Amino acid sequence: MFHMGWFLGYGFGVYGWGGQWSGNASRDVANPELFIGMGQALENAGFDYMMLEDSSVLPDIYQGSFRHSARTGVIRMDPIPMIPLIARATRHIGVIGTIATPFYPPFLAARLFTTLDHLTGGRVGINLVTASPHAAAQNYGHEEHFEHDERYAMADEWMQAVSALWETWEEDALQLDEQAGVFADHTKIHRADFHGKYYKTRGPLNTVPGPQRRPVVCQAGGSPAGRELAAAHADTIVAAVVGVEAMKEFRDDMSRRLIAHGRKPQDAKVLFLVNPVLADTEEDARAKQERAMTARQNNLEGALAGLSYLSGKDFSQFDPDAPFPDLTGKVNGHQSSMKDYQNAAAGGKTLREVALGRQVVESIPLVGTPASVAAQMGEAMEHAGGDGFLIGTPPTRKSIAEIADGLAPELRRRGLIRSGYSYDRFRDNLLEF
Ligand SMILES: Cc1cc2nc3c(=O)[nH]c(=O)nc-3n(C[C@H](O)[C@H](O)[C@H](O)COP(=O)(O)O)c2cc1C
Repeated sequence: MFHMGWFLGYGFGVYGWGGQWSGNASRDVANPELFIGMGQALENAGFDYMMLEDSSVLPDIYQGSFRHSARTGVIRMDPIPMIPLIARATRHIGVIGTIATPFYPPFLAARLFTTLDHLTGGRVGINLVTASPHAAAQNYGHEEHFEHDERYAMADEWMQAVSALWETWEEDALQLDEQAGVFADHTKIHRADFHGKYYKTRGPLNTVPGPQRRPVVCQAGGSPAGRELAAAHADTIVAAVVGVEAMKEFRDDMSRRLIAHGRKPQDAKVLFLVNPVLADTEEDARAKQERAMTARQNNLEGALAGLSYLSGKDFSQFDPDAPFPDLTGKVNGHQSSMKDYQNAAAGGKTLREVALGRQVVESIPLVGTPASVAAQMGEAMEHAGGDGFLIGTPPTRKSIAEIADGLAPELRRRGLIRSGYSYDRFRDNLLEF
């Protein structure tokens, strides 16, 4: 069996805007109902978690302007308050919120996620990201963002500080002894006194430990520094690599790194990003994919804006019909994704070819009926040895139904995904197999 998650790539943002299945946009923007309904549908389908992306910028790297972002609706509401709303309407699914470690003081984050752990009944997770744009850092008072590997070193220390705060109350510190008049035993509550290079925090937390004590930790960075951070702290790792061989290499590499950190390979579940194209027949699915590819071919601007965001470089400055620019060593943003693009440009491919040729990052192409896609997923997982898949499809009510009511039953029929939940808490279900 493997695990299923869904990554909401625009966080608490806008989905389907201007498309054929966009719903009632005038009512849906900033409305939580789509996400709450999604949680219920995915729980019914046996998903382990949904994961809400986040960022703190209205992007303006492309053309040095907000024009593209504003016209296409690249907004983000803060996803964290959404977590308890989804949890309140569900009983088992885990909900992961994204925190950019450079911008959250450890005490604020540790207290917030302990509180969320209570509000969700032990079903919250935290997606550690280091954020990439300089503009995000400037929103929080920095001149510019920290350098890539230093961001990861900071994130590692940040996680140590947060973990120390989560341990400031011993297991049995909470007494709740009304007769003796003791709410909590002060001898079992300790200061953290964490003094790192980047962060300091005193502690203890003034919250009582949550049902999980330590919320589920998720990590996505694919560079060596990102993988090390994941090996040290993560319970689930989400990866966007290309091809079954790369999936296998990633899982094997993570197993080695986990062991080096004194952990077991099965302590962290690796889920691979996919974007299944589903339809009633194989032919319909191929035609649907063709249409999506044509739409992408007609949207060079969208592709260039995306590359600008990932790399931190304004791609409007490059000639689309010249060879893909060599940015090796010059990217302070998403390094592993840019390396994938650079690899795709081998042999002198033009910027236009590379930008339009590549689907939103996905590990394996999945196109077909729910039954045939389920079979392909089973085979890929068996070969790669990973722990599951992360759906990256933008959620609309239609795409949610296709996955939750079309694909998931086929996966379940094959015994590939869970048919129910054994536990109440997120981590227990995640680590069950
Ligand atoms: C599935 C997935 C989800 C991610 N979610 C976020 C996010 O919510 N916010 C963010 O700033 N970065 C997000 N990232 C980016 C990663 O945290 C990381 O910065 C990126 O993968 C580049 O990592 P690298 O420089 O270590 O290769 C995500 C990446 C992946 C693959």
